[in-house]
Amino acid sequence: MALPDGFLEDLKFRNPVEDVISSYVSLKRAGSNLVGLCPFHNEKSPSFTVFPATRGFYCFGCGAGGDVISFVMKAENLDYISAVEHLCKRAGIEMPQSDYELRRGTENDVKKSRIIAANRDAARFYHEMLSRPEGREGLAYLRSRGLTDAVIRHFGLGFAPDEFALKKNLFLDHMKSLGYTERELMAAFLCGKSQKNGRLYPYFRNRVMFPVIDINGEVVAFGGRVMDDSKPKYLNTSDTPAFKKSRTLFALNFARHSCADRLILCEGYMDVIAVHAAGLPCAVATLGTAITSDQARIMARYTKEVVIAYDMDDAGRRAAEKAIALLDSVGIRSKILKLNGAKDPDEFIRKNGADAFRLRLDDSENQFDYRCAVVIQSHDLTDFNDRMACISELTQLLSTLHTDVEREVYIGRLAERLEVSRESLKSDVQRLRKRQEKTKEKEAFRREVQKTAGWGDRINPDRGRMRRAAAAEEAILGMLLLFPELFSDARAPFGGVPGITEDDFLTSFNRRVFTFFAQCMDARGRFDMGYLGEAFSEEEIGRIAGMQVTRAALTDNGTAELRSNLAALREEGAKQRLLEQESLSNEDLAALIREKRGKQQ
Ligand code: GTP
Ligand code: MN
Repeated sequence: MALPDGFLEDLKFRNPVEDVISSYVSLKRAGSNLVGLCPFHNEKSPSFTVFPATRGFYCFGCGAGGDVISFVMKAENLDYISAVEHLCKRAGIEMPQSDYELRRGTENDVKKSRIIAANRDAARFYHEMLSRPEGREGLAYLRSRGLTDAVIRHFGLGFAPDEFALKKNLFLDHMKSLGYTERELMAAFLCGKSQKNGRLYPYFRNRVMFPVIDINGEVVAFGGRVMDDSKPKYLNTSDTPAFKKSRTLFALNFARHSCADRLILCEGYMDVIAVHAAGLPCAVATLGTAITSDQARIMARYTKEVVIAYDMDDAGRRAAEKAIALLDSVGIRSKILKLNGAKDPDEFIRKNGADAFRLRLDDSENQFDYRCAVVIQSHDLTDFNDRMACISELTQLLSTLHTDVEREVYIGRLAERLEVSRESLKSDVQRLRKRQEKTKEKEAFRREVQKTAGWGDRINPDRGRMRRAAAAEEAILGMLLLFPELFSDARAPFGGVPGITEDDFLTSFNRRVFTFFAQCMDARGRFDMGYLGEAFSEEEIGRIAGMQVTRAALTDNGTAELRSNLAALREEGAKQRLLEQESLSNEDLAALIREKRGKQQ
């Protein structure tokens, strides 16, 4: 994959890492670097650091790191190419075409931009159908669901006509007249191909259409609903190069402008639309799946509080519990909205009106109340044993509250509810908290030990076994990535010692990094952290950026530093080979053990 010469430099020059990041994170100067609260994990004191000099960032808390491109990838949930595109837009430079237009997806060679264009034209087509005879039924259905023309227009709702019954090719003819090819329409999931006769047919037929619009205002997908009880109720676009279901939220394009206080998370398209129509434009929905961690993280970029407005059945309640946990893990406080006498927000609003919904929203029980209520409900308080079990579960819950004030308040309330003394409940909670703190300390210690031992290192599984080698490798890689000009020295023989090659690397991940680096140097004569996106995952890039940062403060004699680390690495290599040889012969090993034992006795 070839980029025009100097393109990435230009891109980075025009998108200084500190400028880009400071529109996401509030940064404070710390010497020549900048620090702030990490946007990728939940933290109270800043360990997220931006290094203007090396044009990188690194979080000492969670290990996220990289350059401006990988930052955008993470922050905006984009793939590498789209992140480059994003930065091009930001800086007002042209995205190079050529191979960059090639994207992953079902129809590999269909450009993302074509899919987006096709979706936009399709959305127009479906919308216009509502004012044509073929779409009369669709319009009637939407109106029967209480939607006004203004709401229909706002959300760009539409209708896909029943072309099989009409024996017409309205959609296909229209799209083809606009110049879309069959491959493009298929790649966009707007059409399918008949296995029988190989002919194209429109994917959505006889359904009311809900366009899904991303935060750039582009139509990226559709949900299509039947107008009766037939199945499946909804058809949804599958993932395409322009659309990832697990990273998209319906109506976030609107909600992002009015969600400073809170987002309302609903289950269905209809619910979101009803809530917006009720004057609360801060509702979003996942697209027919449970909320994913990506979606939770995206929400965390916009708000600190989410009100969960799921269906009131068992499945909805379970889904809400899961959502609370997931949202909590990204630092979002969540509340559950209780809608008595209605199955979902749409129905509630239609029955009781927008004002009733808003009122309900304001006193929606928060997560803690809700959990307590669930615990209390699940026990029979008149039974002694059950009552004890209930108190112990509530003690557990109370111990998770973070502030003394909160604990005071809830201990008071619950003591009354359970008819126990405030003092005894309080001392139970305190005892439990002490115990938890001890466990936490132990855990932290264990994690620390594990980290240094490299156990459970997913990125470089060899690291635990070969700590010294890995350390030397990382020192070498850090130097090389930071000062690629040292590579020619490092590769040349020196004083009868051969120069560095990939065979010197003992751990698999580090070897991969070196190989990639060497290939870049050979093929392009240079290296840039931005290239890493071509071959490494975000998490891996984070690790690599970490190596670079560790070296950043170092040394004016890079070559000497490199050589001494190379020597250390080779020493480790020699040891390793010896070990391997030894392990070849079990008998020798047995003899060795016998010999040792003999000495000990
Ligand atoms: P109404 O029943 O018209 O009120 O629609 P709703 O949007 O409230 O839908 P519902 O609560 O039944 O489902 C919630 C969401 O799940 C929908 O908005 C869809 O995104 C998704 N969904 C529902 N049924 C199906 C289905 O049959 N297939 C798929 N793929 N998704 C579905
Ligand atoms: Mn519904």
